[in-house]
Amino acid sequence: MTTAAVIGCGDVSIVHLEAIEAVAESQLIAVCDTDPVTAAAVARDRAVVSFTDHRQMLHALRPDVVHICTPHDQHAQVAIDCLEAGVNVIVEKPLAHNASEAGRIIDAANRHRGVKIGVCLQNRYNATTQAAQALLASNELGAVVGGSATVMWHRTPDYYRTKSWRGQVRRSGGGVLINQAIHTLDLLQWLVGDVALVRGRADRYGFDDDLLDIEDTAHIVLDHQSGARSVLFATVANVIDSPVTLEIVAEHAVLLIRGDLTVTYADGRVEVVAERRARSKGRGYWGVSHELLIADFYRHLDDPEPFWISPLEAAKSLQIIEQIYALSGQGASAPE
Ligand SMILES: NC(=O)c1ccc[n+]([C@@H]2O[C@H](COP(=O)([O-])OP(=O)(O)OC[C@H]3O[C@@H](n4cnc5c(N)ncnc54)[C@H](O)[C@@H]3O)[C@@H](O)[C@H]2O)c1
Repeated sequence: MTTAAVIGCGDVSIVHLEAIEAVAESQLIAVCDTDPVTAAAVARDRAVVSFTDHRQMLHALRPDVVHICTPHDQHAQVAIDCLEAGVNVIVEKPLAHNASEAGRIIDAANRHRGVKIGVCLQNRYNATTQAAQALLASNELGAVVGGSATVMWHRTPDYYRTKSWRGQVRRSGGGVLINQAIHTLDLLQWLVGDVALVRGRADRYGFDDDLLDIEDTAHIVLDHQSGARSVLFATVANVIDSPVTLEIVAEHAVLLIRGDLTVTYADGRVEVVAERRARSKGRGYWGVSHELLIADFYRHLDDPEPFWISPLEAAKSLQIIEQIYALSGQGASAPE
């Protein structure tokens, strides 16, 4: 039996709680939230004990796996405390709210190599991205020439008012890039390859300065080490949640993910790979793959190798984002 606990019992925690339930031989034993009312309510619901301090929980129960679902500025120290207690960690994206905090997690993971840590970039488990990755790796399509992506979502002032950390650079590290588009940016760099040069800009256009100090819109141009070029546009100032698009251009085919994956070959053939449909109580735009990532993490707990979406791997998209923030005077390292 693998024992599990969830730290941070807000919106996304429901998906983690469902996924723990779905993993055979795993059992939720505790939840932790700094808000005692939230912690007690979820604990009652799930018939487990609650804590308001993760260190006390680690000391009292030492679960096999902890899921960190806290705001961005509460990822690094909590993850490090877990690693130091010898407790395996699944941490929600982003790895941390800035690259230096991410570096502290990477150092701790290096010091505690026997303890597993994985980052919840679950869209790498989508049926479409897995199929695209397999096709690109097969060399059947020739070299990757480039890619493009759009993340055009709608966030209301209430989204930021109800959870104020989301609008505060000090706590979230930034806006649309680090909170929403990070998944797509991660996929771009995973599918097209490591990035050599980052250019672009992030700014705020759609929300009042007294509500947010984060960016709501960004554009990015990436030159990859292979010589490929990709571009990304992201905003939360759109009037609806449009489907994310991700297009990869290879020598012999164009791969377009927009819900499903459509592969259009140079000879005119077209193939479609359907995406799985969401079953979870979580929001549709979170995707369907949390459960797959979490099950895979549990399956690999006894592996000697690090989990493949490691802190080092997850830091790649974070470093791109941090460079855009530096170019734009935005983000956690910007002057107050
Ligand atoms: N992978 C995805 O698709 C996805 C989707 C949504 C959110 N997320 C990520 O999940 C994380 C949480 O987001 P959310 O929307 O659920 O936030 P939320 O504000 O709804 O919930 C966060 C909870 O953590 C609690 N908390 C804060 N500091 C804590 C601490 N030190 N110890 C214990 N509890 C603490 C808060 O009281 C709150 O209940 C963020 O990193 C977010 O980016 C990921």
